[in-house]
Amino acid sequence: MAHRWKNNLTRADATPYEAFLNRRQLMGGALGLGLVGAAGMARAQAIPLEPNSYEDITQYNNYYEFGTGKGDPARNAHTLTTDPWTVVIDGMVDNPGDYSMAQIMEAMTIEERIYRFRCVEAWSMVIPWNGFELADLLNLAGVQEGGKYVAFETALRPDEMPGVRFPVLDWPYVEGLRLDEAMHPLTIMATGIYDKPIPNQNGAPMRLVVPWKYGFKSIKSIVRITVTDQEPPTSWNKANGREYGFYSNVNPEVDHPRWSQATERAVGGGLFAKRQPTLMFNGYETEVASLYDGMDLRANY
Ligand code: MTE
Repeated sequence: MAHRWKNNLTRADATPYEAFLNRRQLMGGALGLGLVGAAGMARAQAIPLEPNSYEDITQYNNYYEFGTGKGDPARNAHTLTTDPWTVVIDGMVDNPGDYSMAQIMEAMTIEERIYRFRCVEAWSMVIPWNGFELADLLNLAGVQEGGKYVAFETALRPDEMPGVRFPVLDWPYVEGLRLDEAMHPLTIMATGIYDKPIPNQNGAPMRLVVPWKYGFKSIKSIVRITVTDQEPPTSWNKANGREYGFYSNVNPEVDHPRWSQATERAVGGGLFAKRQPTLMFNGYETEVASLYDGMDLRANY
């Protein structure tokens, strides 16, 4: 499949935070004069930090199907059977049906994407994902005219998921994107971390990653993808619609009703590390702001 994303960063591209800030300041001036190439901008915005350690990324998780503690998923998610795995792709597509994970992996081009990851709880990491663009999978299924949204569903297996005995959320976990968000080249399906198969606690065998949105949009262990013309329900919106909207774009200027979103704690930074400023659209403003032209981001939180 065509390799068409220009922001294909590798670990060698990671920019130390100070260099990132300096470059941003420099670019602020240069930008006004239209002197900065798109690639330079994308790189400076996308990679402000070194990736977190494999341990940070795989031991500090949110995956409520395996418990609500940060260490519960790493402890409990080994019970999830991820092979074989089938994903149903249905709704407004030309080729609906059951797609085996093997079939999907065969058809997709896997690449590394180092992305910032910002949880709505105001912690963040930098994660070197391996995966493919969701657009490639949707194109394989053939999105039909009139499709406006994409709905996603996580597996629901009470025998393998100790956390679903508790009604913390209305299981199965569901999420959704607008079609243009789903087709955006930054939106990927992650199947690996640090060039290893993605661990169960991180959403094996395949989870969504939408780096400019709060982490809860990045739904794990997906078994169904449905193209629809209706805005899909989302788990956290159903649980508390006042606190969690459909869009959930990272925005330092729109606070959560119970805490500020202006800053974040970088996981792995140590107990006394300073909080760091949260960036508009989590640092991906250049790439995605145009998706929301003219939209009131406060009303559409
Ligand atoms: N997907 C499912 N199925 N269940 C969950 O509880 N938690 C979400 C998201 N996807 C969640 C989920 C939240 S709140 C976050 S912050 C991220 O997964 C955490 O991803 P990570 O554990 O890989 O860092």
